[in-house]
Amino acid sequence: MRILVTGGAGFVGSNLCLAFKRDNPDARVIAADNLKRRGSELNLPRLRAAGVQFEHADIRDPNDIAALGPMDLLIECSAEPSVQAGYGGTPAYLIDTNLRGTLNCLEAARTHDATFVFLSTSRVYPIDPLRALPLETENNRLVLPSGATGTGWSGHGIAEDFPLAGHRSLYGTTKLSSEQFIEEYRAAFGLKAIINRCGVLAGPWQMGKVDQGFMSLWAARHLYGGTLSYNGFGGLGHQVRDVLHVDDLYDLIALQLNRPELALKDVWNVGGGPDNALSLKALTDACASRSERSLNITGNPETNPADIPWFITDARQVSNAFNWHPKRTLDNLLDEIFEWLEAQRALLEPLLK
Ligand SMILES: NC(=O)c1ccc[n+]([C@@H]2O[C@H](COP(=O)([O-])OP(=O)(O)OC[C@H]3O[C@@H](n4cnc5c(N)ncnc54)[C@H](O)[C@@H]3O)[C@@H](O)[C@H]2O)c1
Repeated sequence: MRILVTGGAGFVGSNLCLAFKRDNPDARVIAADNLKRRGSELNLPRLRAAGVQFEHADIRDPNDIAALGPMDLLIECSAEPSVQAGYGGTPAYLIDTNLRGTLNCLEAARTHDATFVFLSTSRVYPIDPLRALPLETENNRLVLPSGATGTGWSGHGIAEDFPLAGHRSLYGTTKLSSEQFIEEYRAAFGLKAIINRCGVLAGPWQMGKVDQGFMSLWAARHLYGGTLSYNGFGGLGHQVRDVLHVDDLYDLIALQLNRPELALKDVWNVGGGPDNALSLKALTDACASRSERSLNITGNPETNPADIPWFITDARQVSNAFNWHPKRTLDNLLDEIFEWLEAQRALLEPLLK
């Protein structure tokens, strides 16, 4: 068994590599990454210590992927993962990696008859309809009125049948386009592919930055000191997301790989769901009590064009199909992130402060 994880030195990729190697010690697990994301290089010693092979490779170059050799399973975790990417500059890197690069990986999976696992995103859902949800403010967070519902949305969150018409960010478009190519590869070549549309993922070894990885960024700034700002939607920190621990994502992928007859079709919304949702303001309170530091967080009322006020994943379809439920609570998740930041302070403080 040969498992190739592209973006394997990144947050999700490195955690999946380690979990696959732990559970399949005889498998050859290869992490391929171009180390574009600052901090991904810090994952290399962890990968090495666990017996995961690291290869420097850029998925934009088909020759780099060909040089990695055949594989039975290809998990595509490489990306420019920020929804803000491409605005105010060129989207070239975003498109070249998230679309063209993903197509190169898809071709490799087709060539080697490998199962392809794609980490898509909740940001495939369009921005204007999400902004038009009838949100109200309650206890410093945005909420849907009780019982309110429409096509693809309800108090359970946003479901797979939320209408897709409209713009969705440059990032979201690279992911939806990739999903559509995967669908065509399934139809044309019988490609075995799993598409998971993930909401916010978090956990230790996420190198949080202002435009991506807000859970670890918030925790790090509270612990190490630094500044934070509530951006958009009035600058109050009332925006809401659900969050899934990366280990719960691994548990799900392992279950999906065991049930190909169910997994290798359609798309799956994957996220922490309503029980694991919080506002930025609530995250601040949780971080302040853990760090015993209260930051003076500024409010920037201006909303970025790609931003949305509220997203909770309706993951009931994937939960029911695979009898999967997130095991780690938000409290567990934050505890683990703080433990990691404390234990690795010397390594992480220069990067995350
Ligand atoms: N983290 C989340 O909240 C989240 C949510 C939904 C979907 N996703 C998706 O999950 C995947 C993993 O995200 P992540 O959070 O681990 O991001 P990450 O930035 O930590 O990891 C991505 C890795 O890809 C590498 N990379 C970038 N361009 C590359 C290229 N051209 N060739 C090879 N490697 C390249 C980076 O160096 C990095 O190590 C991405 O596809 C992302 O879009 C993430």
